Amino acid sequence: MPDFSLSPEQESLRDMARKFARTEMAPHAAECDKAARFPDEIYRKAFDLGLMNLNVPAEYGGSGLSLFDQCLIVEELAYACGGMTTSVIANCLALEPILLAGTPEQKERWLKPFCAAYQFASFCLTEPSGGSDAGGLRTRARKEGDHYVLSGEKCFITNAPHASLFTVFATIDPSLRHRGITAFAVPRSAAGVIPGKDEEKMGHRASSTSTVRFEDVRVPEADRLGGDGDGFALAMRTLDQTRTPIGALATGIAQAALDHAAAYSLKRQSFGKPISEHQAIQIKLANMAQAVHAARLLTWHAAWTIDHGAKGTLESSIAKCFASDSALHVADEAIQTFGGYGYMKEYPVEKLLRDAKLTQIYEGANEIQRSVIARELLRAYS
Ligand code: CAA
Repeated sequence: MPDFSLSPEQESLRDMARKFARTEMAPHAAECDKAARFPDEIYRKAFDLGLMNLNVPAEYGGSGLSLFDQCLIVEELAYACGGMTTSVIANCLALEPILLAGTPEQKERWLKPFCAAYQFASFCLTEPSGGSDAGGLRTRARKEGDHYVLSGEKCFITNAPHASLFTVFATIDPSLRHRGITAFAVPRSAAGVIPGKDEEKMGHRASSTSTVRFEDVRVPEADRLGGDGDGFALAMRTLDQTRTPIGALATGIAQAALDHAAAYSLKRQSFGKPISEHQAIQIKLANMAQAVHAARLLTWHAAWTIDHGAKGTLESSIAKCFASDSALHVADEAIQTFGGYGYMKEYPVEKLLRDAKLTQIYEGANEIQRSVIARELLRAYS
């Protein structure tokens, strides 16, 4: 029987994340958004509470949570600030290739020291020449003896200016397309690793994003993740795992937008009564509530599916796509409920719209999610 109740452990995990989000993150969300400030002190507290390396097993120093439990936490954090949440969970994306393809020796060597102290890792797949066509990436990995030499540029890399570790996807031969792509773990300290300056972004401004250049970076063969040519499937398997928490992140933003709109509608008067008594607003709130509820359930279902051993390619793309489209729509309707005030920076809802927008783009644009969904779907009919 499906069971939608949370265990006492899950309730307390969610309460802990909610308390942290509302007391530590929310009070600084507007200020960090305005100044595009990367709040190191908040991220450090998140690390201390075990909120940063959620997917890393406890034996390597992480929190070792199921995907479902990760989603409970991510939704709570995103309710307070989408941008901070992106930075807090970026380690999960960057470390997933090591979890999936690392040898026991590599996991021991990379994950243990990494999780022992507060630090960031970045996932380097996207390139300036095109993000959606991951199979066409151009960063080269030339084999020289027992080393590879990496050269190329990545872009839109979350937390890159602060990262001490990069998981990098490069090709040993571009003519092989996706079959040439190979993955590496590369420390920031390697000569030739050059993060760019922080990008000025529309939303998620408490998070940090930049390019990373690899200028003839020597990477020992021992730091290759999987074999030559295994990198593309590894990137896809990684994204199968991490798109579902993006569904949770979008759900958190959408829930915040709904809560702001509902509370405002009860106190804002027009035509001699609270606007919550106008059917036009009631219909809006009802539609927003449906979207939030469906986004959460799709996210929970995708997480549950993956936790039960399935690949979850279809389910994670559905959750990410639906929840992020819903977040943008719900934030838009929240602004409409606030009217002119909603458009003003003094009120919290315009930030939610800017933050929601990115969830339709990163970890695979929603056009790519729809293409993945259609492919998976059609396979069942062919
Ligand atoms: N798991 C395992 N293997 C997979 C797979 C999966 N989910 N999906 C595809 N593959 C395998 C295929 O089986 C195929 O294998 P063979 O060579 O053995 O046949 C191979 O990979 C190629 O697959 P496709 O033919 O489907 O590849 P494609 O070139 O048509 O591309 C795509 C597919 C889905 C469009 C892919 O390029 C894609 O997902 N693009 C989007 C990339 C993306 O999400 N980028 C976001 C970066 S992260 C981010 O945003 C950063 C951040 O900081 C938050």
